[in-house]
Amino acid sequence: MRSSTSLFRRKTIAAILQNPPADHEGPAAGGLARHLTVRDLTGLGIAAIIGAGIFSTIGKASLDGGPAVSLLFVFTAIACAFSALCYAQFAATIPVSGSAYTYAYASFGELAAWIIGWALIMEYAVGNIVVAISWSDYFTGLLDGVGIHLPLWLTMGTQTGHAGYQAVMNLMQAGRPLAEATPAQLDGYKAWTQAPELFGDWHMVMDLPAFVITVLITALVYVGIKESKNASNLLVLLKLIIVFIVIAVGAFYVQPANWTPFAPNGVGGVLKGVSAVFFAYIGFDAISTTAEECKNPQRDLPKAMMYALIICTVLYVIITLVLTGMVSYKELGVGDPLSFVFAKVGLPRLSGLVAVSAVFAMASVLLVFQLGQPRIWLTMARDGLLPPVFAKIHPRFHTPSFATIVTGLFVAVPALVLNMDLVVDLTSIGTLFAFALVCGGILIIDPYGRSEARFKVPYINGQWLVPLILAVGAFLIYHYNATGNHEFWQDVSGQRGWLQHDAGGSGKVSGGFAHQIPTLVFLLFCVALCVLSFRQKLSLLPTLGLLINLYLMTELGISNWTLFFVWLLIGLAVYFGYGYKNSKLNHSLQPV
Ligand code: ALA
Repeated sequence: MRSSTSLFRRKTIAAILQNPPADHEGPAAGGLARHLTVRDLTGLGIAAIIGAGIFSTIGKASLDGGPAVSLLFVFTAIACAFSALCYAQFAATIPVSGSAYTYAYASFGELAAWIIGWALIMEYAVGNIVVAISWSDYFTGLLDGVGIHLPLWLTMGTQTGHAGYQAVMNLMQAGRPLAEATPAQLDGYKAWTQAPELFGDWHMVMDLPAFVITVLITALVYVGIKESKNASNLLVLLKLIIVFIVIAVGAFYVQPANWTPFAPNGVGGVLKGVSAVFFAYIGFDAISTTAEECKNPQRDLPKAMMYALIICTVLYVIITLVLTGMVSYKELGVGDPLSFVFAKVGLPRLSGLVAVSAVFAMASVLLVFQLGQPRIWLTMARDGLLPPVFAKIHPRFHTPSFATIVTGLFVAVPALVLNMDLVVDLTSIGTLFAFALVCGGILIIDPYGRSEARFKVPYINGQWLVPLILAVGAFLIYHYNATGNHEFWQDVSGQRGWLQHDAGGSGKVSGGFAHQIPTLVFLLFCVALCVLSFRQKLSLLPTLGLLINLYLMTELGISNWTLFFVWLLIGLAVYFGYGYKNSKLNHSLQPV
């Protein structure tokens, strides 16, 4: 045993399994309580997956990509399935609450583990900001429907209100008609001008419902895993019933003519939905954070992840086909597409029912993510990378109390003020990054599928298959990208470059060499992995998982990458300011 100052110091799997001593002694000794079975876990997975993505962001993705977005759901599901297999192997090998963070600790070492833990904040806490804001949109819509009208300034983020105000002021100053403003901009203007002012110039525009739902869900998560599980199971049941009704009733209103053209804006249009579609899948990994609360994590976690993913994929593909079959894709650019289509075909009651269910669906996503984030922090604190208070377990409720409250504040306060476009993209990029590292982690700890774990990724020799699949993929991408996401431009001065649309529906377009950097890095990666697979006969599925996740990352615009890197830099500053010095590995206990 000796300590290490290396940034790549690793925890052995045996050391990780010894680490949560309180847990091994059970809740009576102050550990987490083990209540979850495979059914609860599958329920939690579905609770986390089906939410704002399918109830809301699918609308804009369908507008851009047409019915072919259903294929994007299949493609993204494949990426998620490869990642899920790797998650499942890790969860079976290291059943502790840190999820990808813990897995990276065992495979890549401490620095990478910290970076993953930091990136996971984007998936869980930042993702929940999106969900809370979407929830508020649906909820205020419902209140309006029953005649309760909250003041506009209490229903939107400060940023949204200010942006609307600015847009309308610009129109006024340019002497242009207000009809040119979008309804959202006009609402923002009204909210900003009607809001009470504090401290002189500060307009109190805030998304109060988003704040309140986050506080309520945090309180539920605080009081216990059992209560959270019961609430989640109930919400999932309700959510699935509604999804089945949407499919069963909607199928009668499908007009196959709406499926033509299938991909009206080419591959580029479809790929603009990457962020939104990927967001819809985020969540199956969240159940791995409850590993210390499962009755039999090694057996149940892998099963539950795969069940949840398969169920949701089937539902997503069918829903997309039903939606785009019921009305023209051109009409789907709305925030509440599932309820919109029923209003459109003359079923207003069903439309209202779907809107109510969306409120429940999103509340369950909030619940699982509010559950996941504190458990990751708890694990990081046990390792010494965060202050010990993050590992504090409530003596009565047996939940990570302090970390739960911090998560609540971290989500609730930004949800009061932020606008959600960018937040969706940031969530997707952070999660893809974590998924890529989990797939890479399996290649490091078990490249040939020899693990003794109760679940392992099936080994298929990638020696020839990886280069072959990459060659076919490269051909397809080259062939279709002429009409795709990357368009060649040349301006009047003769300057040339590629345009790339920021994914996630923001409609932002920007250009220049910088936009090619993610793609170039990806290409280099492909070449390196091709060579490695060929020489080392690497396992095919994790290798493909790694590559597909990285490819999806390259489809997110450079502005998202920039913000992501800023976030990682802040994380590195925190690590070197605190974690590096306080890490348990610094104090000697592990073999390195
Ligand atoms: N998959 C979750 C949702 O769509 C994050 O809300």
